[in-house]
Amino acid sequence: MVVLVTETEFRRAPEVFESAPVRCIATPGDEESLAAAVAQHAARYVIVGSVKYVGKLYESLPRGGVIARFGVGHDGIDKQKATAAGLICTNTPSVLDQSVAELAILLVLAAARRLPALNDEVRRGHWSLGPSGIELRGKTLAVIGGGRLGQATARIASLGFGMRTIACRRTPVSGSAAPFDSMTNDFRAAVGDADFVSLHINAEPANHHFIDRDRLAMMPPRAWLINTARGSVVDETALYDALAAQRLAGAALDVFDREPYVPVDPSRDLRTLPNVVLAPHVGSHTREANRGMAERALQNVVLAEARDYHRMDVVNPEVLRS
Ligand code: 8YV
Repeated sequence: MVVLVTETEFRRAPEVFESAPVRCIATPGDEESLAAAVAQHAARYVIVGSVKYVGKLYESLPRGGVIARFGVGHDGIDKQKATAAGLICTNTPSVLDQSVAELAILLVLAAARRLPALNDEVRRGHWSLGPSGIELRGKTLAVIGGGRLGQATARIASLGFGMRTIACRRTPVSGSAAPFDSMTNDFRAAVGDADFVSLHINAEPANHHFIDRDRLAMMPPRAWLINTARGSVVDETALYDALAAQRLAGAALDVFDREPYVPVDPSRDLRTLPNVVLAPHVGSHTREANRGMAERALQNVVLAEARDYHRMDVVNPEVLRS
């Protein structure tokens, strides 16, 4: 049995793919090349990154084949097309929660203590203390989307730093799975008193530009926006305007509308603003998460081969009913 693994993802956990009980072949991740490789190897299974697949991939795989995401977000996969083609789509939930949550907290801390600016100053030979940072203790973190990733972030913020956490989510959660001081489904109420607003919502169409001009205006001017979710949930043009006008203290971003980052409007380049902290979509780039995602994606494929569909992390369950 052959599993095609897109090169970028293969490189993130080569030891897992090289020692797998199935033959894993590293393949270029663009749709044209991946579809050609599927045909060449008569492959039924592919493990893919977050690239958008719009057509040929769904035509190339046989019914019963699997498109397994190495990662949790599956906005790059057209579930309708996959289901119509009889393809099962899977993701790797939970294995990256801690890594992404730790990066979200790193961004909060970098913002609070101005770490990128301090780092630049010392490298340039300056030794000025600059403006003071702030402590996190007692500050308010609004977690937008209180699912697993939001909960993991809130847990570190409250247990590690004594932050007050407020979740904004559609439906309430309870018990130890809810490390929030309070919960609401009203965005304005969640962010009204926030020092940091951390996004943990998925990139479904309804969340496109969820953070728009109106919602940015609801955040206090002292707040920082933290995004480790998906670039598409933020209107980057509106964000630039809010930051440039200092209607928002800053933004710490790991994800962007277009990756690698290209400004949506060339005259509004987030990289030119001093109150922006940037990372190249590395929330889940830890040894532990990479290994976890590789193992889980492979497991999904192996379960499909054994027709053990109900133990798989299927994101288009309707395909199993068709
Ligand atoms: C992945 C991600 O590492 O899980 C996700 O949805 O965005 C990342 O953490 C990336 O998609 C590569 O597969």
